[in-house]
This record gives sequence, C-alpha cells and structure tokens, in this order.
Amino acid sequence: MNRQDMMDHARQVMTDNDRGTYTVPTHGLYPFQWNWDSALSALGFSQYDEPRAWTEIETLMAHQWDDGMVPHIIFHQPDDGYFPGPDVWGTGRDVPTTGITQPPVAGFAVCRIHDRAKDKALASEKARALLPKIHAWHQWFYRSRDPQGTGLVALLHPWESGRDNSVDWDAAFERVPTEGVGTFTRRDTTHANPAHRPTDDQYRRYIWLVQKFRSLNWDNSKLHDASPFQMVDPGFNAILIRSCHEVADLAGRLGMVEIAEQSRAMADKGVAAMETLWDEKLGQYLCLDRTTGNVVDSPSIGGILGVFAPIPKERAAAISRRIETLAESCEYLIPSHDPTAPEFEGLRYWRGPVWLIVNYMISDGLEQAGETRMVDRIMGDCLRLIETSGFAEYHDPITAEPCGGAHFTWTAAMVIEILETHKVAA
Ligand code: DGY
Repeated sequence: MNRQDMMDHARQVMTDNDRGTYTVPTHGLYPFQWNWDSALSALGFSQYDEPRAWTEIETLMAHQWDDGMVPHIIFHQPDDGYFPGPDVWGTGRDVPTTGITQPPVAGFAVCRIHDRAKDKALASEKARALLPKIHAWHQWFYRSRDPQGTGLVALLHPWESGRDNSVDWDAAFERVPTEGVGTFTRRDTTHANPAHRPTDDQYRRYIWLVQKFRSLNWDNSKLHDASPFQMVDPGFNAILIRSCHEVADLAGRLGMVEIAEQSRAMADKGVAAMETLWDEKLGQYLCLDRTTGNVVDSPSIGGILGVFAPIPKERAAAISRRIETLAESCEYLIPSHDPTAPEFEGLRYWRGPVWLIVNYMISDGLEQAGETRMVDRIMGDCLRLIETSGFAEYHDPITAEPCGGAHFTWTAAMVIEILETHKVAA
C-alpha cells in the first residue's frame, strides 16, 4: 500500500463510520458515540474537514451532565446489538448516556485542532465556546475523583480508563463482588473473537459496579467513596494533566483569564503528584490502588503513557529507554503489556496488543521532550502494522494479527495524523 492508498483507505473508514454529527468507533461492535474515540477521531477529520472535526467534539460536549461530567457513551439511537445498553445504565437522560466517564483527551484535541486550523476565525469561535465546557469537566474530575486533593484522580470503573481489562486492575478487581449481578447476555463476543475480548468473569464485575453506581442514583458526590474500585492510573492522569496544560495555554491566548489560571494550577499540581507514581527500577510510572494505598507492580502501557503529560525531560528520556527494552521482545511497538511478563496476551484487548491511539499520544509526549528518534520508530511501526493487517481496532505486537473490531475509526484517524504530520516512510 503506498502513502496515497493508505490515506484514501483511512478516509473511507472515517466516512463509513460517520453518522453525520458523530462517528461510531466501528459498525456492529460499538454502534454509539464513545467519548475518547470521538475526541481522537476529530484529530483525523481536522486534517481535511475542519467544520466536521468541530462538530464531532461539539456533539460530545452537548451531552455533558450538569455537574460537569462527560459520559463515556452517548446512546444516540437504539441498538440492541450492544450490551450493556441504556436500560442497564438507567441514568434517566433524554438522550441516554452511561454514568461513567472516559479519558479527557477532548481538551487536548480542541487545542491542537485550534492551533493548526486553516480557518482561524472558525477555530477561535469554536474554541471559545468549547473551553468553558471542557474546563468544567476537568474541574469535575478533581472535585469528584480526588476528594482528598492529592492532585491525582481515581477511576471507579475499568471502562473509564479505556484500558478495560488491563493486567493493572487484576488484583483490585478481585475485590469487586459478583453476587447478585444476575444473568445477562454479552453482545461483544458476537461481533469480535472472544479470545480478543475481556472474560465473562470480568464482565460480571463490570456490571456489578454499574449496578452499584446506579443504586446511588449516579450521584457523583457519593460514587468515589462508595466504590470498591478506586484506581489512580498514570496514563489517565497524564491525559487530564496534558489537557489542562493545553487549555491553560490556549485560554490565556484567548483572554479567558480565569480558565487559564485555574487550568495552570491543576496541571502544575498534577505534574508534581505524578512523581509519587514513578518507578525507578522499571523506568516508567505505575498505578496506585487508592483503596489499599499500594502501588500496583504491573508493567503496562498506562505507566508509559505518563509521558503525554509535561513531565521532566529526564523522565521522558527514561521512558524512551523503557520502550527500547520492550522492543527487544516484540516486533511492533508499543505493546500494551510487557511481553516478558507472565500475564501478557498478545491478542487480548489491553493485555498485550498495540493500539495506535496510545502510540500517538506517547509519541507526542516524547516529541515534546525531544526524543525524536523513538518517535520516528513508533510512527513507522504504526504504518507497518496497518500495511500488513489493515485498520483493525488493535494488533498483536509480535505477529501483527488484526484484533477486535475491523474498519476502526480512531485507527484511521491516527493513520491520517501520522501521514500528515510525520515524515516516515509509508
Ligand atoms: C466495551 O464495550 O468494550 C467498551 O470498551 C466499554 O466502553
């Protein structure tokens, strides 16, 4: 596939998954709007259709809750091919949504799309309208998910991390009960190979948490302390911190002084707090289980994604070396779990496969820190994967086998980004 063919194919995927004002991640497996999928997909649109990119993020933010939370799925249309649907969540919204959130990459996306926009007038109008909403979401995080004011937020459900079945959650997840969940029928395994997906046992615990939060009427002033799962994920926090950092900068330039100052304070506090998650031995960050107070000794990509935040240069350099080490045990960077660890599974969702969106964010962080050789290598691996195996949801880092859903929106968006912004051989 030459560069032009790859670009044409990527745009076709975006078009096929476009529902007019939002995209679905892929037909069948994920038939609604997902939060971080949309924000990252907007980056792809912005390379050739700026108005469409803005619409993607506007649609997402139009479903923000009054308390500032932006839900992880918006169920725009009924579709019984997905479980758990609106009846399981029971959030009582006019357009139904879930009651949990997802990585807040929208702030970063708004700022990036604004800064490189060709239509500057449109960009400034859109950013001015979106920044207060994004900022309210960021404030919601620190208020509702960091009640002790540590500078780091906790996830209350693995689905909030986006890394649903990461090895990072295994020990903590054992403490989430399954009693009383009742029976249900999964739909994901009819669309994707069950060997690529989370297990039934994990699904029972996912649903137990949904039922628990629903029993509290989705009241975010209660959820944090009531949850048996409270995980501080460095990757998730890095996304939030980076978004606050970018919003601070852009709001400052747009004369939105209060948003700029508050965002800067949140970002600075977050960067300082990230130090508590650093593991010198591995050369990456690790998760913290807030319910036990223990660090989670699990070498996953969450701790590498920490580099997306504006962390000190020596930390970014160490992360680059860490990726160098991972390269010794795989063919395609970056595996979502260390291939030499016993829990590694190359095909199973977040327990080993490569995800282009994470590669993109890690590379962006490395680039800010001047680690350009590693960036070229990662970007090159992304394109080799697509060339070999197409626009899959994720890929095996050793064999390149395409996994999960096919014809995937954010994979296509990342390919467009890489082709437009990196001079790597396609
Ligand atoms: C799923 O359904 O697998 C999603 O990851 C949940 O957001």
